[in-house]
Amino acid sequence: MDDTPVALDSYEAMAERYAEAVRTKPYNAHLERPALRALLPEVRGFRILDAGCGAGINLPWLLEQGAREVVGVDVSPRMLALARQEAPSPQVALHVADLGRPLDFLVDASFDGVFSSLVVHYIRDQAALFAEFARLLRPGGFFVFSTHHPYADHQWHGGSYFETRLVTDEWRMAGEPMTVSYYRRPLSAVTGALAGAGFVIDRLTEALPTPEFQRLDPEGYARQMEKPSFLCVRATCCESEPPH
Ligand SMILES: C[S@@+](CC[C@H](N)C(=O)[O-])C[C@H]1O[C@@H](n2cnc3c(N)ncnc32)[C@H](O)[C@@H]1O
Repeated sequence: MDDTPVALDSYEAMAERYAEAVRTKPYNAHLERPALRALLPEVRGFRILDAGCGAGINLPWLLEQGAREVVGVDVSPRMLALARQEAPSPQVALHVADLGRPLDFLVDASFDGVFSSLVVHYIRDQAALFAEFARLLRPGGFFVFSTHHPYADHQWHGGSYFETRLVTDEWRMAGEPMTVSYYRRPLSAVTGALAGAGFVIDRLTEALPTPEFQRLDPEGYARQMEKPSFLCVRATCCESEPPH
């Protein structure tokens, strides 16, 4: 099987455009980001992994919340080059790495939390990814992430809701078309992968648009109030061995 990361070429091609758009695009700035950030627990003094940190929009924010150190990982060198400019702090370390493979350069139980915004759907073997996060977290550490809502992916792509499969979307990014591939899967596949890795879900939310979204894009706001686009989860790691 070809194990090239499915989204690498897309993010390499659109890195600058993505980095600019993600700051202000209502779907990010006034829908996904506030919903995900609302799930972050107290992080004062913590060491946090930003898994798939992209161009780094959450890196300075995590430091502002009091994190002692943030380690950003992303498969796209161009996205990480932008993250370096976004967060030039000595408290931020950045690594080019594929989350579809073991993160051998990171030590067991060396993180208090894993944060990941809109990344886990690019990974075929989510069970292995979540097990790797469990390895990196201390007992009681948190995993906060967002992903496409399985309902939205199913509405868009059809087929069997219960199938996990690679799909491709066409996005408009700063006015230009861009194709991006990712894995769509049912909700039970996500929660099952979490449970299998020993995580317990504390909160699961479906992002709702903010009043600012309504002001900027009233029609998009009405759609988001009817149909969810993003799922956000906070889970706690692994006080005991995962169930067999
Ligand atoms: C939608 S962007 C989100 C970036 C950032 N978390 C944010 O909130 O702006 C998805 C990111 O996942 C990264 N990514 C995709 N597949 C990956 C993989 N296999 N390993 C590591 N990063 C990956 C992409 O390069 C991209 O930066």
